[in-house]
Amino acid sequence: MLYITRKFHFSASHRVYNPALSDDENFKLYGKCSNPNGHGHNYEMEITVAGKINNETGYVMDLSELKNIVESSVISKVDHKNLNLDVDFMSGILPSTENIAKAIWDELESLINNKNRKLHSIKIRETINNSVEYTGED
Ligand code: NI
Repeated sequence: MLYITRKFHFSASHRVYNPALSDDENFKLYGKCSNPNGHGHNYEMEITVAGKINNETGYVMDLSELKNIVESSVISKVDHKNLNLDVDFMSGILPSTENIAKAIWDELESLINNKNRKLHSIKIRETINNSVEYTGED
């Protein structure tokens, strides 16, 4: 088994808040991340695919195919967008880094997986210090 990884970047804004709670309760829970008018991040995302080498190509997966899938189904929808308001696959989802990673997994899994390869992990770095990795298991 081999693991291949490609890195992506997107810039997006969000407000981390739970609409079921008051503004005060949200501020206690999420601090300045719950500021009413939102704030932005330059997100880094690493997508890792696991598989066996295709003897014809020498690849697990052509990284330009991975790039095309991720750009058309994820990056084009989130880059320079508001994650609370603009992104169909984030609708109704609180845009924590954890939930962003899970939502992107759900978008990509069926587009990447086939009999020779499968989506292995999605790692999203929101700040220099904070990142989340999701491997599809609950
Ligand atoms: Ni934030």
